[in-house]
Amino acid sequence: SAILCLNGPNLNLLGSREPTHYGRETLNDIEQRLIAAATTLGFRLLFMQSNAEHQLIERIHTAPADEVEFILFNPAAFTHTSIALRDALLAVAIPFIEIHLSNIYAREPFRAHSYFSDIAVGVISGFGARGYDLALIAAAQRLGLELP
Ligand code: DQA
Repeated sequence: SAILCLNGPNLNLLGSREPTHYGRETLNDIEQRLIAAATTLGFRLLFMQSNAEHQLIERIHTAPADEVEFILFNPAAFTHTSIALRDALLAVAIPFIEIHLSNIYAREPFRAHSYFSDIAVGVISGFGARGYDLALIAAAQRLGLELP
């Protein structure tokens, strides 16, 4: 079965973008590490980043046809704005974990509201790129993997 890792706007700039908030790892570094870890755990990992809301929505719509059983989602700035992405996740009814590299509660007040947290399985925020690995382990366990 497949796990889809979805990434919203400006995350293509990871590595050089505000490193005090987002660290020095690139999105490609994260993708390669996640694919390797998923393969070890016995899952297929699909990875996508877009700066466009409609492309993220359409990727969510096609997820069931790709047998995606779980989504790891960093909606980036759409976290705080997008009812349309929320509705897309509700429409396909695929469980997901919301990920943020930074601790969104320790920043500007407008970042403390998310359109996703109340419908997510869980939220990982503030652990940098490591949050993706933690989310993958949590997703794998939800999908039946036995952890030691
Ligand atoms: C982010 C936090 C958001 O507030 C911000 O707009 C981002 C990245 C994070 O990973 O910490 O682009 O989702």
